[in-house]
Amino acid sequence: MNGLAISSVLFLVLVEKSNARATLNNYNERKTNLIEEETLQSLGGSLRLTEKELLVNEKLMQWKEIEVNNSFYNPQYFNYSKHYFDFKDEMKKSKVYQFIQRMPKGAVLHVHSSLMLGANYLIELTYEDHLYACLTDDNLELRFSHTEPQRPCSVKWTLMSDLRNASEDIAQFDAKLKNYFTLDSDDHIGFHTDINAVWKKFNQVYFTIKSLISYRPVREKAFYQALQNFYNDNVMYIEIRSGLSSLYELNGTVHDKIYMATLYDEVTKLFMKVNPDFVGIKLIMTRARATNVDKVREALDLSRQVKQELPAMFAGFDLVGQEDVGRPLAEFSPVLLEAQDEINYYFHGGETNWYGTPVDENLFDAVLLGTKRIGHAYALIKHPALMTAVAEKDIALEVNVISNSVLSLVQDLRNHPLAIFLARGMPVVLSSDDPGVWGAEPLSDDFYVAFVAIASKHADLRMLKQLAINSIKYSALDDNGKTRLFSIFENKWNAFIDDVIATRL
Ligand SMILES: *[C@@H]1O[C@H](CO)[C@@H](O)[C@H](O)[C@H]1NC(C)=O
Ligand SMILES: *[C@@H]1O[C@H](CO)[C@@H](O)[C@H](O)[C@H]1NC(C)=O
Ligand SMILES: *[C@@H]1O[C@H](CO)[C@@H](O)[C@H](O)[C@H]1NC(C)=O
Ligand SMILES: *[C@@H]1O[C@H](CO)[C@@H](O)[C@H](O)[C@H]1NC(C)=O
Ligand SMILES: [Zn+2]
Repeated sequence: MNGLAISSVLFLVLVEKSNARATLNNYNERKTNLIEEETLQSLGGSLRLTEKELLVNEKLMQWKEIEVNNSFYNPQYFNYSKHYFDFKDEMKKSKVYQFIQRMPKGAVLHVHSSLMLGANYLIELTYEDHLYACLTDDNLELRFSHTEPQRPCSVKWTLMSDLRNASEDIAQFDAKLKNYFTLDSDDHIGFHTDINAVWKKFNQVYFTIKSLISYRPVREKAFYQALQNFYNDNVMYIEIRSGLSSLYELNGTVHDKIYMATLYDEVTKLFMKVNPDFVGIKLIMTRARATNVDKVREALDLSRQVKQELPAMFAGFDLVGQEDVGRPLAEFSPVLLEAQDEINYYFHGGETNWYGTPVDENLFDAVLLGTKRIGHAYALIKHPALMTAVAEKDIALEVNVISNSVLSLVQDLRNHPLAIFLARGMPVVLSSDDPGVWGAEPLSDDFYVAFVAIASKHADLRMLKQLAINSIKYSALDDNGKTRLFSIFENKWNAFIDDVIATRL
């Protein structure tokens, strides 16, 4: 081999090496670009943060990274694949949790009005005078009355004060009583129970709570307290779902259903007088999906009436209750189509794991019936054509992750479809469904779990802020209402950022 040959071989080797380096550089660059593309597409990914927000974000992400790393390197201690009741208290020690709790979160758009309050407060309400109880091992019905209620009871209607007084240990009595007001008890129903069993217990709890708060003065107190709790959790506006039932007075007067709408309105006005930066509520009228077409037609008539008498408060209509055992939306679509031009719909849809069943296909009906938002939309990822339609029509998804966990749809929260909705930047709003029933904070618990256990490890303050913004954007408020809520939110948000910096994070 002559000198020239040797040097040209050397040259080739060198060229090849540098090509390999160029390819590697290019590879890393392409990977970075792909990740960046996904980040931009994700919910909040294109939001610009201010200098101050960037500062706060840096700290937030340090905390988040420590938490996620801890679990990643010690998966045996990972908590969000466990039952919510096994991690809800522990979670509150997290710095990220405390940050989220302080953070203005905008609006709650999916919550059932009777189930906003936790068991501890409801137990307090059982200390009110004139309360009778029909108490058996597996059921509790309550009724306020001057004399023994003339209603069926398999045991005997007894004054709550007498029951309490007759017990040896009042604290123990109340602790036992609490089990009737919550799913979160010592022998709580876990992952190994079927979904119908969980819902059965859920319906019992609902029955007991409803019997307690159907008395007008107690309902007033309870609703005021509910607003207070949500406000304390940095929520500024709420859309409640309510079936509007008949409240009663001690003297036997029974109010018509629309009275309850008026009560919500008046209590809210009272609350706003004390807290002028609370923007108010709107009402989504509901009817149980287990009912029949005539009942739905009646409910739609009542909706029209509420809309006429309380136009500022009325938002729309929905069907509620366990989807798997209720009637599919399709059965009601003729009557729902009739009212479509007068009444906005906010249907629950896809709160099921039964792919391809009529229940699962409620999602198609919801979209075809022109729903403004979809409650849960848990099954939506299995329907690509619907995913596209939802994106095109900008239909918001009201996601309630803790509800989905407690009500047996998902066990390991990392597998919740919200991850995909967030990654695709879909119009998601986070909500809490029935926080009182499982003893969750009004919104913080759902935000925290979504942020730390479901969203990407990279998801940061931009996602949190965008979720709050979405809750305003996709609310039923008119343009003026949205503008007002946005400006109140912005002030609170900026004050929050300043405050986080001032308290040295
Ligand atoms: C978390 O783990 C990653 C590696 O996966 C490491 O680079 C990073 O420094 C860790 N962060 C913290 C705060 O420990
Ligand atoms: C999970 O919860 C337990 C207590 O229930 C706690 O000791 C542990 O630190 C938590 N795990 C993580 C990764 O935070
Ligand atoms: C509680 O019960 C005792 C008897 O056990 C009775 O003397 C007392 O008056 C009762 N108190 C009330 C408030 O009913
Ligand atoms: C019953 O009580 C309510 C509330 O205290 C009162 O407004 C109403 O007038 C009473 N009705 C009768 C018939 O006494
Ligand atoms: Zn719901």
